Amino acid sequence: MKVGVIGQGYVGLTITAFAGEFFEVVGFDNNSRIVEQLNKGLSHIEGVADFTLQHLIRSGRYRATNNGSDIADVDLVVIAVPTPLTSDRKPDLGFMDAACKTIGENLKNPVLVINESTSFPGTLRNYIKPAIEKYSKERIEHLYAISPERVDPGRADFNQKNTPRLFAGLTAEASEKTRDFYSKFCDKLVEVSSPEVAEAAKLFENTFRQVNIALVNEFAQIAHSLGISVYETLDAANTKPYGFMKFTPSAGVGGHCIPVDPTYLAAVAEEHGVPATFIRRANEVNLEMSKYVVDRVQSDNGGTLEGKSVLVVGVAYKPNVADIRETAAELVIEHLRARGAVVSWHDEVVGTWNGETSSPLGGAEIAVVVTKHDSVSEADVIASAPYVFDTTGKIKGVHGL
Ligand SMILES: NC(=O)c1ccc[n+]([C@@H]2O[C@H](COP(=O)([O-])OP(=O)(O)OC[C@H]3O[C@@H](n4cnc5c(N)ncnc54)[C@H](O)[C@@H]3O)[C@@H](O)[C@H]2O)c1
Repeated sequence: MKVGVIGQGYVGLTITAFAGEFFEVVGFDNNSRIVEQLNKGLSHIEGVADFTLQHLIRSGRYRATNNGSDIADVDLVVIAVPTPLTSDRKPDLGFMDAACKTIGENLKNPVLVINESTSFPGTLRNYIKPAIEKYSKERIEHLYAISPERVDPGRADFNQKNTPRLFAGLTAEASEKTRDFYSKFCDKLVEVSSPEVAEAAKLFENTFRQVNIALVNEFAQIAHSLGISVYETLDAANTKPYGFMKFTPSAGVGGHCIPVDPTYLAAVAEEHGVPATFIRRANEVNLEMSKYVVDRVQSDNGGTLEGKSVLVVGVAYKPNVADIRETAAELVIEHLRARGAVVSWHDEVVGTWNGETSSPLGGAEIAVVVTKHDSVSEADVIASAPYVFDTTGKIKGVHGL
């Protein structure tokens, strides 16, 4: 079987690496630089090693392309393109539309189309299927299914094999073929009754994280005002063996999922006349954490940051990855600069970002730790500035949430 994967980013390349062990995979990406690198066996994604790609290329089971006609004869297509928000924070299905166009214009025979991109309930049925049909020159009856991706880049304990996978087809035949495909490399498949349930479950999973993170971020502010340690209090609550799940405070949420997916759920809720006030407020609380952090740093430093040198340590949105999408570090830096601080940042995993490069760890008056990679030593962070504010809870004996 030949599989086309549309989008060779975090999700698309991860699925490519697993599927490539069993099927021939053509990875279609419209970024020619990424395609060129991938065909040299160079991965740009944590969790997909160069040697995995090189092994697949050598055995003739993988190649990347930005030429739509290269997917003309596949038997199955997986869609893994970004589903971001527009500038006014509404679901943006522009990349999805382009992916449907590639599929519609190039595929000659009926195939199974599986969407792995995250989107609101109804996307497969009311958007993807009609869009592919609109772009197809002839009438082709493809099968359609959804299987939302749950990959957590950089995570070692859970991967495609041992993370249960939800799926549902638009028809029973689509469901059956979807099960056949994933069962080759995934231990546990969970079929749900409709694509809408699978789509909604994915959004709810990330909304659950978003609201719990917002709750703990708000609680961190309450704990500080009460003069107690948020971390000690959370550890104490966590001794309850049931009914509690520990989340930890931070400078905010980042990445492609938690800041974005709940807004997809809120948007569809509001379209149906249900005000998603709780979800909207959770998003605001998380966005406001960067200001709270900078307020605390300012108040500890004589009430002004004007002209002070501040080093932000860790700008990736989470430890041990180079991903800076929606990172809380961006807002922290914005607030610091707006108050006249002279800001540089240290993150050798990210290297370059926004036209700036990582500075050495040290030499500033103030250090604010947003993300702590394992490669950064606690002692070096402590020694990096006379005043250190840690938002991660990982550096002992310094200021923090
Ligand atoms: N990153 C994660 O951890 C994660 C986890 C679960 C679900 N998701 C979801 O998966 C989807 C993809 O996310 P991602 O993190 O892989 O994004 P990404 O930005 O890492 O990768 C997307 C890739 O698609 C390519 N692309 C964009 N438009 C294209 C098109 N029309 N045709 C072909 N290629 C195109 C881009 O060049 C890029 O390489 C999103 O819906 C996201 O919400 C992401």
